[in-house]
Amino acid sequence: MILIAYATTEGQTAKIAQFCADRLRQAGHAVELLKLDTGAEPMPDCDAAILAASVHVGRYQDAIEGFALRNALALNKMPTLFLAVSLAAAGDDAEEWTDLERIAQGFQTRTGWQAGKTCQVAGAFRFTQYDFFRRLAMRWIAWQKGEEVDPHGDREYTDWKALGAEIDAFAAQAA
Ligand SMILES: Cc1cc2nc3c(=O)[nH]c(=O)nc-3n(C[C@H](O)[C@H](O)[C@H](O)COP(=O)(O)O)c2cc1C
Repeated sequence: MILIAYATTEGQTAKIAQFCADRLRQAGHAVELLKLDTGAEPMPDCDAAILAASVHVGRYQDAIEGFALRNALALNKMPTLFLAVSLAAAGDDAEEWTDLERIAQGFQTRTGWQAGKTCQVAGAFRFTQYDFFRRLAMRWIAWQKGEEVDPHGDREYTDWKALGAEIDAFAAQAA
């Protein structure tokens, strides 16, 4: 069984995790999709695992940190993939990419889980999920990036085709 455990704040990582689950199931794999709210959720018996989380102000959710920390020993013994979702991954700013790598590295150092592979995945602006202050902050970020966004809609950057290929490669390696 392949476990997909994820943490999400505005929902894009949930969509990404569901996409991975559907893809793996269509290819005949048994999959368990586990949404992490606290990080204390028990880890189901599995042969391989995909963990996914998103960056907010330079950090992943506490729930993924807790889950990875508690289960690092088991995770380090099986094929694993880490899907690190962010908006920086939608662009090609070298400094932002260095930051993404530093954030992923810090996470792995703190938790002791060394992901078999880390994949930086572009997320989304989800204005429909933001409160007033987040909407303001995210409009400013969009403006800085020169992105035209509808401040009352969502704008997705996830490359589903590339993600699908990544998942297929992981499944082939895990089998
Ligand atoms: C308050 C806030 C802070 C964010 N901080 C960062 C950040 O530091 N770096 C980054 O690349 N993206 C950042 N993002 C973008 C999110 O990573 C992106 O929207 C992602 O799709 C969120 O995934 P989720 O919907 O699963 O929570 C931030 C988004 C919000 C709302």
